[in-house]
Amino acid sequence: MDRSRIAVLLSGRGSNFLSIHSAIEDGRIPARIVAVISDRESAPGLARARELGLEATAVPRKGLPSREAHEQSILEQLRRSGAEWVCLAGYMRLLTPAFVSCYPQRILNIHPSLLPSFPGLRAQAQALEHGVRISGCTVHLVDEQLDSGPIVLQRSVELRPGDSETSLAKRILKAEHRAYPEALNLLLSSSWRVEGRRLIVDEEAPVEAR
Ligand code: GRF
Repeated sequence: MDRSRIAVLLSGRGSNFLSIHSAIEDGRIPARIVAVISDRESAPGLARARELGLEATAVPRKGLPSREAHEQSILEQLRRSGAEWVCLAGYMRLLTPAFVSCYPQRILNIHPSLLPSFPGLRAQAQALEHGVRISGCTVHLVDEQLDSGPIVLQRSVELRPGDSETSLAKRILKAEHRAYPEALNLLLSSSWRVEGRRLIVDEEAPVEAR
């Protein structure tokens, strides 16, 4: 089976990267990770990638003259690795439209809320403050706006009385670790297209037919 070449961009702990890596190792995603790139040299996820023997590179923003120069440097790494897909896994920078246009419908992100609710930072705290009863996570294709592209998959998580930002984030993270590999596998293993905002998976049978 042909395995798609995946790059992961991360800024921190990298638990979503590890969930993708494990799923690939278990044969649950027809892919291989060809590059792990971080804007932070000290990102624990980058250290883990090195331990796993993956091609892992820090591309810090500091020292580069502009945001564009930083992205060019990352794009250079991506091209060198031959990556066909880019998975954002806790990557804390907004990508410019120029970057996104280099990988049209080939950049994925995971966000810890049911989008379009609570985009941006501290999504779990936003959900708590709003008083919603259900939140969750969303895997989506990345477009030019923040947390906005076509949705691939969502998983819900119920809020519990007494939940804190930390306890909710922990339960959502568990759902993320299942959702990201599942979404990636769906995109790599099925035929799909985007119509307007909607991602249509061809094999998905209509509800009546199930
Ligand atoms: C996750 O909650 C993800 O949804 C968000 O950033 C966090 C990254 O966590 N985009 P990790 O680095 O994958 O553990």
